[in-house]
Amino acid sequence: MGSETVVLGQKVLAPDTAPAPASTFFIFGASGDLTKRLLLPSLYNLANEGVLVDDFAIVGVDRVEQSEEDYRAYLTDEVANLPGHLDTEGETWKWLISRIGYVAGDFEDPATYGRIRERLERRRQQTGNAVFYLAVAPRFFATISEQLGAAGLLKEEPETFRHVVVEKPFGTDLPSARALNRRLLAVADERQIYRIDHFLGKETVQNMMALRFGNGIFEPIWSKEYIDHVQITAAETVTVEQRGRFYDATGALRDMVPNHMFQLLAMTAMEPPNSFDADAVRTEKTKVIEAIRHMRPNDAIGAAVRGQYRAGFVNGQAVRDYRAERDVDPESRTETYVALKCFVDSWRWNGVPFYVRTGKALAVRRTEIAIQFKRAPGVLFRHLPTALKPNLMVIHVQPDEGVSLRFAAKVPGRKVKLSEVEMDFKYADYFKAAPSTGYETLIYDCLCGDPTLFQRADTIEAGWEAVEPIIEAVSGGEDEVQFYSAGSNGPAMADVMLAQDGFQWLPLERERR
Ligand code: BG6
Repeated sequence: MGSETVVLGQKVLAPDTAPAPASTFFIFGASGDLTKRLLLPSLYNLANEGVLVDDFAIVGVDRVEQSEEDYRAYLTDEVANLPGHLDTEGETWKWLISRIGYVAGDFEDPATYGRIRERLERRRQQTGNAVFYLAVAPRFFATISEQLGAAGLLKEEPETFRHVVVEKPFGTDLPSARALNRRLLAVADERQIYRIDHFLGKETVQNMMALRFGNGIFEPIWSKEYIDHVQITAAETVTVEQRGRFYDATGALRDMVPNHMFQLLAMTAMEPPNSFDADAVRTEKTKVIEAIRHMRPNDAIGAAVRGQYRAGFVNGQAVRDYRAERDVDPESRTETYVALKCFVDSWRWNGVPFYVRTGKALAVRRTEIAIQFKRAPGVLFRHLPTALKPNLMVIHVQPDEGVSLRFAAKVPGRKVKLSEVEMDFKYADYFKAAPSTGYETLIYDCLCGDPTLFQRADTIEAGWEAVEPIIEAVSGGEDEVQFYSAGSNGPAMADVMLAQDGFQWLPLERERR
């Protein structure tokens, strides 16, 4: 059977995955959206995989006064209504729900933490391990951690762990990220803090390391000598939906770039680490982010494009102007799209542009990393009517996870004619993957004490340090937000940015052969 996942009726067992140690998993923000949409489904999938032990328990913490029975009933209703809903009648849900408790209390009230301590005391026979997952508004991240610290709940005894998981956004700029790190690190050790970037939970993002370092053929050509430029795209079809208040104060640049986009860039550009040790990997990634060239005010012209969507159609559905969305300023200049030209100032990448784009209400949902190699000299094929396209490797992060490689081949026949062909690896064709939200690996790793896929304090700060000058440069008045129609590929200026360098974005709407 090897390492293949075994699908047994409803149960999906991953035979090579050791069960995570027993622990109590506290969720602050127990009635929030993240809890029902992602955390519970992920814990359900982990239970289904058989990696949660009998002594595992979940305790929701929130302000709402309610009994444990009411909380369980609420969760069961909520998850049953999710798209692709969980089977709340099945054994796995019964197993999970019987392990869910509830503590009511205000996050700022020390009495809440007294109740949490009592709860942990009662579980002492089973385990002293605890994870505190902060699925709350960012303004509570430091407060809750400090309260946990003051109540002695972050103190680890021999053979027990206490971990804090901090969601995104981690600060809104460099000073706020630094201040948050300082407050967290005053009450917990760096190795106890798990800062989530959910892009790192995506299978294809993790596969970047296997692809680059597990194969002999790619690493030698992974440098400025052979690579012309890199395009990193995270295109979304969704609009700001109900998140107008947060989004209008944040924008695409802050929401996506210092974290998700730079993580993709770091995975692409990092040097091989010496081991899979968490710090070895994270140090190499941080070095890349630290080496991103800081933009100076005048550099923004031609190296940064901000866009905002106007009314249009996405997948046949009418979308209204961003400025007409709920909780958005009718004169907002916030970007819902950003394209950047970045450089990584290292020996390996000197002079290679990394173009990064992300936006909402675009034509298709597509996250990918495209590596365009240098063109072959055309002397042999100069008689051909059109120039050959350069080799292209695309890592398809989502959807249709996989990797494709474009190269030239001779068209059968007596005349020499060339055509581009594509070799395509799709995850779905090779592996039977268990259903996943992308959070399973992250939760499992946190339970097992492996922070490799989490952001370290210095990585987060390096991300903000690189983004800060861009924010300053684009808010200097020269930059105007460019409009694009919902359902398009983004603002035309983003195309101009690449055209100036002699390149073109890969079209968002394209067939994979
Ligand atoms: C979140 C951003 O971190 O990532 C959202 O706040 C964005 O604005 C989301 O939509 C994208 O994640 P995914 O996994 O849907 O690509």
